[in-house]
Amino acid sequence: MTGLLDRELLFVTGKGGVGKTTVALAAALAAVRAGRRTIVAEVGGQQRIPRLFGRTGVPLGAELQLADGLWTVSIDPALSLEHFVSKQLRSRPLTQLLTRSNVFRAFVDAAPGAHELVTIGTAWDLAQTRRWHRDLAPFDLVVVDAPASGHGIALLRTPRTFGDIARVGPMAQEAYKVAEWLRDGHRAGYLAVALAQEMPVAETLELERTLRRSLGRPLDAVIVNAVLPRRFTAAQLREVAALTDDRPRARAAQHVVASFAERVRVQQSQLSRLRRGTGAVVGTLPFVIAPALELDDIEALSARVQLTIA
Ligand SMILES: Nc1ncnc2c1ncn2[C@@H]1O[C@H](COP(=O)(O)OP(=O)(O)OP(=O)(O)O)[C@@H](O)[C@H]1O
Ligand SMILES: [Mg+2]
Repeated sequence: MTGLLDRELLFVTGKGGVGKTTVALAAALAAVRAGRRTIVAEVGGQQRIPRLFGRTGVPLGAELQLADGLWTVSIDPALSLEHFVSKQLRSRPLTQLLTRSNVFRAFVDAAPGAHELVTIGTAWDLAQTRRWHRDLAPFDLVVVDAPASGHGIALLRTPRTFGDIARVGPMAQEAYKVAEWLRDGHRAGYLAVALAQEMPVAETLELERTLRRSLGRPLDAVIVNAVLPRRFTAAQLREVAALTDDRPRARAAQHVVASFAERVRVQQSQLSRLRRGTGAVVGTLPFVIAPALELDDIEALSARVQLTIA
């Protein structure tokens, strides 16, 4: 029992293309079934979630309802900053004057970590009773579909770094609140997505070390995605290997079975290596045969994700 769906933040990260968006949505669907008002936040201009629900043309930064209890947003640092500044200034015209000025924009674009800070700050804001934008309601759970590991960690580090540099003022105060939230084991949970291969496993173990070093937090769970089924028993494999049928088709079939079995063997050994190396709960998702996963496929995977992280 990791209780990840009971927290306010579920941060999903991992190497590029391993299934982060798929797992983030699957986890969110599980949270919705558990009655939690949930939002999946995509970052870095991604908008894959609305498309899975057949929605297109959604503006960046808009909180879009997809189903009962489920929303999504693609966090737009510029809009987030506008909301933040407007909360501080309490004047809409003044905010617009400031945030839409070229000098201000140039300053924000050049300030190291500014985009990361407002991005993770927005994820935090989504879960606050008093939102930066007063008309918006808070969420019970924010699932962040984070960028690949290195950038994901940068998002997590920035509030602390920024707070230490700025020290005083509303930005620093807010940054420290976010940093504290990220370190709070009752509020924030960390989930890595991996594949059962040499490099992704190595990177997941490295990610766990980095998370501990930079945030003082462990990974709570790892979902190993696209795991092949163990279709043949050892006895069946021996039987196939011993066949002495020389017809080309029989040879080809023998080869297919042997190479599939080898891939399964490698995956299982990487899975064991991961389980030995991490303190996190490890769950798996099966490889689904489809050109690209649709919402129905992700719904089906969601029950498996729930078993690992609920
Ligand atoms: N278990 C699975 N079986 C088969 N295909 C899968 C599985 N999980 C994900 N995919 C497919 O793999 C591709 C990548 O998945 P996804 O977009 O979730 O990865 P990602 O880590 O978010 O990628 P990126 O780093 O580009 O954001 C998608 O086409 C998705 O449909
Ligand atoms: Mg993605």
